[in-house]
Amino acid sequence: MRMTGLRLRDFRGYKQVTLTPPEGVTMLVGENGAGKTNLLEAVHLCCLGRSHRTANDKDMIRQGTETAAVQLTVQRNDGKHEVGVRLFENARRRKIVYVNGKTASRMGDLMGHATCVIFSPEDLSLVKDGPQARRRFLDMLLSQQQTAYFYALQTYMSALKQRNALLKNGDLRALSAWDEQLASAAAPVIRLRREACMQLQKRAQTHYHYIGGREEEVFSLKYVGALATSTDPAQDMLRGLHDSREEDQRRQTTSFGPHRDELELTLSGQLLKAYGSQGQMRTAALSLKLAAFDLLEALQGEPPLLLLDDVLSELDPDRRRRLISRIGRAQALLTCTDQADFIGARPACVLRVRQGEILMS
Ligand SMILES: Nc1ncnc2c1ncn2[C@@H]1O[C@H](COP(=O)(O)OP(=O)(O)OP(=O)(O)O)[C@@H](O)[C@H]1O
Ligand SMILES: [Mg+2]
Repeated sequence: MRMTGLRLRDFRGYKQVTLTPPEGVTMLVGENGAGKTNLLEAVHLCCLGRSHRTANDKDMIRQGTETAAVQLTVQRNDGKHEVGVRLFENARRRKIVYVNGKTASRMGDLMGHATCVIFSPEDLSLVKDGPQARRRFLDMLLSQQQTAYFYALQTYMSALKQRNALLKNGDLRALSAWDEQLASAAAPVIRLRREACMQLQKRAQTHYHYIGGREEEVFSLKYVGALATSTDPAQDMLRGLHDSREEDQRRQTTSFGPHRDELELTLSGQLLKAYGSQGQMRTAALSLKLAAFDLLEALQGEPPLLLLDDVLSELDPDRRRRLISRIGRAQALLTCTDQADFIGARPACVLRVRQGEILMS
C-alpha cells in the first residue's frame, strides 16, 4: 500500500502540515525533539485509532488548542482509502474517526484500511517488559488483520471490567451472567491469538536467523495461557471462571482468562528476558515486528506501511543491511538524527524536520 497524503492539524508540535511521500523510503532527519516521531505517531493514529506511545489521546493535541486532526490517504490494490481521526481536549467529547470522508460510528471501522508496522527504540520493551507489552503487540496486529478480533477483545475487556466491579462491590448476583459474556468473547480472542502465534513463530525464527546471522541461536515464541491449548475455549473459560470464583472474590479481581496470556520468547530454550543480551533482545524484537509485517502483507496481498523510528542507528552495519533488504518492498518513513545512519537505505526523498516544520532537503 502507498501513502499518498498525510495531513496534520494542531497535532503535537505541528500547527498545520501536509506530506506527500513518494514511493520507497522517505527519510526524516532532525535534531532530538524536532518532531520526527510525532509524524510517525500521526500515521499510527490513523491506522489504529491510537498512539503507539501514549494511552492518553490528549497528549497529542497541540498545547493551547482544543482539537487535533490527522488524515491519511493510501492507495491500495483495490483503490484509494482515506482515514482520519479527530481528538478533543474537552473530556466530554469522544474522539471521532473518519473513513472515506464519512464519520464512522465505531472505532473498529477505522482498522484495516491503512495498516502499518512501527519499529521504534521502545520495541525492546516487547522482550524485556511484562506480558502486557506482548499482548498489546498481538492485539495491535490482530486488530489490523481483522476487525472481528478488535470487537471481540473490546467486548471481553468491558465484560472483564464489569465482572471486576461486581467482585469489588461484593454484588455477586449478576456474576454468572458476566461469566457467560466473558466466556463467549474469550473464545475468538484465544483462537485468533493462537493462530497468529503459530504463524509468527515460523517467520520470526527465520528473521532472527537472518538478521542475527548465527545458526546456533534458535529464537522461539510460544503462546502461553490457561486456555492456550483448549479445544473448547468458551466452555473451558466458563469452567475456569467458576473454579476460581472463590479466589476471585477474595482478591476482588478476575484471575482466569486471556487477559493473563503470555507470549513466551526464548533463545535456544532460555527465556530471552532473563538470559538474553541487549543485542539479542533487540534482534528478537525486530524479528517479531518483521514477522508481523509479513503476516499483514500475506493477508492483504500488499505490504503495510513501514514506520522506522531511529532503529538503524542501534544496529551494527551488517544487521542494518540485512534489515533493509528485508523490507525494501514497502513504502517507509524513516527517522534519524544523523543522515550518516542511513548509509545503505537509499532514500527516495530526504526531509528535514524542525520545530513544527518540514523542509525539503
Ligand atoms: N501536545 C504537544 N503540543 C506541542 N508540542 C508538543 C506536544 N507534544 C510534544 N510536543 C513537542 O514535540 C517535540 C518532540 O517531538 P518528537 O518526539 O517527534 O521528537 P523527535 O524528533 O522524534 O526527537 P528524538 O530524536 O529525540 O526522538 C518536543 O519538542 C515537544 O515539546
Ligand atoms: Mg523520536
